[in-house]
Amino acid sequence: MTEPTGAELGKKTAAAMALGHVRSGMALGLGSGSTADWFVRLLGERIMRGGLDIACTATSKRTETLARECGIPLRALDDFDRLDLTVDGADEIDPALDLIKGGGGCHLIEKIVAAASDNLIIIADESKLVPVLGAFPLPVEIATLGWGTTMRRLAEVVGDVPLERRGGNDPFLTDEGNYVIDCRIGSIDDAPALAAALSAIPGVVEHGLFLGMASRALIGSPEGTARDVRKT
Ligand code: A5P
Repeated sequence: MTEPTGAELGKKTAAAMALGHVRSGMALGLGSGSTADWFVRLLGERIMRGGLDIACTATSKRTETLARECGIPLRALDDFDRLDLTVDGADEIDPALDLIKGGGGCHLIEKIVAAASDNLIIIADESKLVPVLGAFPLPVEIATLGWGTTMRRLAEVVGDVPLERRGGNDPFLTDEGNYVIDCRIGSIDDAPALAAALSAIPGVVEHGLFLGMASRALIGSPEGTARDVRKT
């Protein structure tokens, strides 16, 4: 594995710190994205060294592929009653450890897996820490059926919302075959109210606000140190 520098080193260092929370016998959720990829690679190396007996489930096809390449045993989420721990990345983290996720379009499964977990540890480089959520466009996954109607309802809540995320020449489709709308809202003053308003729109499958779900955030620096950030 090539040694990373800068933000990548921060991601890897945070992932290495998260590995310290994994114990034999655990059921583990594996997040998605470039930071979660580091965790998956390090977990795979740890399993290969022996002595760590765990069962994992992945939050995306991409993570599933990487985990298999790394020799990590995978099972379907429905094979577990509960997960002990999920380790995942985030696009924004505020001081209450509320999050924006879904930059990779995986937030539907990420949220289902996080909700099934006793603990959600977020790993990230320092750039993800923000005083207020909303500078990162909020991903909202919508059903393709009736998407025009859903977009109009969505616009009533968050303003104009272009369908601009692409997957090649076509609109981006999630692993579950839905569109993702990236809503440029700006500072989100009342995240619970926004979350409730988005969830109330028929056709909205899931939004990227993860409120009250993370138990801790492990933040890595470009110098290769990591710190444990708790809710304030
Ligand atoms: C995937 O849909 C996202 O929720 C990711 O967890 C988030 O975008 C963080 O990704 P990076 O670790 O690549 O920044």
